[in-house]
Amino acid sequence: MIILIGGEKGGTGKTTLAVNLAALRALHGRDVLLIDTDIQASASYWAQIRDEAAVTPRVACIQKFGKGLQTEVRDLATRYQDLIIDAGGRDSVELRSALVVAERAFVPIQPSQFDIWTLGRMDDLVKTAQGFNPDLHATVVISRASTHPSVSEVAEARGLLADFAHLRLSPAVIRDRIAYRKAARDGMSVAEQKPTDPKAGEEMQALFREVFDGE
Ligand SMILES: Nc1ncnc2c1ncn2[C@@H]1O[C@H](COP(=O)(O)OP(=O)(O)O)[C@@H](O)[C@H]1O
Ligand SMILES: [Mg+2]
Repeated sequence: MIILIGGEKGGTGKTTLAVNLAALRALHGRDVLLIDTDIQASASYWAQIRDEAAVTPRVACIQKFGKGLQTEVRDLATRYQDLIIDAGGRDSVELRSALVVAERAFVPIQPSQFDIWTLGRMDDLVKTAQGFNPDLHATVVISRASTHPSVSEVAEARGLLADFAHLRLSPAVIRDRIAYRKAARDGMSVAEQKPTDPKAGEEMQALFREVFDGE
């Protein structure tokens, strides 16, 4: 399964989702490769910390930039059971390439940044990619949402998404929790971090089930 975690905005939680999903998949015994296409290399850094701390299972990670990404991904897909591509970056060469080879794309968006412009651009990119890759499914995930119960940003986001033909909204919502930052700092997923944050663990599990549904 080739999964893309992408989007044009920084700081929305792309790397956080990519590393958590990769670790969970590895915990399920799958042979998974994390592909870091962001020059900031935070996914690679996470994997390096994980190796240095000898956290098991190991999560293999490579960096790949530029136009060769499609060919590389197609080749790697024959050697790993799952590829998880973290496609943040300075421009969208990697994002566009990854959209052409991915089976499922997940686009984390912070509710505060949930603007028409971002979604319009993503909707266009997905539409173009589907011309080459008709099986691509693209899903927006609300990320870093407020944990405050009175904040209705999730409902507002659902309303906005209805206007975009090529994007659907995930029922899973990832909230802003310190556990994500602590786990990342230690090269872990929220499922592995001790003491555990059960709410973070549950919401990430829900997303995980959706991402790998049927696979
Ligand atoms: N759900 C979350 N709760 C708390 N902090 C988060 C969450 N998601 C991301 N962060 C933090 O926000 C910052 C940006 O997240 P990151 O995953 O690196 O975003 P991106 O890869 O989209 O730029 C990091 O410091 C990260 O630890
Ligand atoms: Mg990132």
